[in-house]
Amino acid sequence: MKLLEDRIRRDGSVLPGNVLKVDNFLNHQIDPQLMDELGAEFARRFKDSGITKILTVESSGIAPAVMTGLHMGVPVIFARKHKSLTLTDNLYTAKVYSYTKQVNNDISIDRRFLDPEEKVLIIDDFLANGQAVQGLLDIAVTANIKVAGVGVVIEKRFQKGHKLVADAGIQLEALASIASFEDGKVIFATDK
Ligand code: G4P
Ligand code: NA
Ligand code: NA
Repeated sequence: MKLLEDRIRRDGSVLPGNVLKVDNFLNHQIDPQLMDELGAEFARRFKDSGITKILTVESSGIAPAVMTGLHMGVPVIFARKHKSLTLTDNLYTAKVYSYTKQVNNDISIDRRFLDPEEKVLIIDDFLANGQAVQGLLDIAVTANIKVAGVGVVIEKRFQKGHKLVADAGIQLEALASIASFEDGKVIFATDK
């Protein structure tokens, strides 16, 4: 998606360890107009998939997920990383390993919000090693629901997540696909 690639070229910076910093429109400050356009694009790409709900993980997945839900007319659930006071039992839980932070986190979703006939679309900000997506896929198996697709704002094509989703036979849509970082510059798959 050209609009997003241009924004990444303009406002993104490449940090050591193959990390793209995009905190002025996605990961800290959020650009609502851009999020709206991203949501509309995901809605277009998954319009014939029969989606009944969107799943994401807090916190950075929420903004694009909500905009997608708005355009598709379906509810959005975010998996929690911390136990809430009102969310105590009756949970679907999965372990998510974060390579960047080198810790295991539990993510959880209240069982009440996932019915067996649900067909969900997973939305997230980044697809890197795919651990967050894997956690949501694990929950989907336990909850006996279908995953109709995975939509990510930015994928780092050279890390494990892309293959993980593709190998699972799930439709994957990345609005910006990064092939590599070269000398501090972003090379998109579309540049090649
Ligand atoms: P995964 O999300 O594909 O599993 O990747 P990984 O375990 O490698 O990443 C852990 C966290 O780092 C995730 O956020 C993920 O979105 C984020 N991340 C991975 N690569 C990049 C990158 O190049 N740039 C930025 N800005 N973030 C990256 P999280 O810990 O779940 O945090 P949040 O959702 O609360 O922001
Ligand atoms: Na994330
Ligand atoms: Na993140």
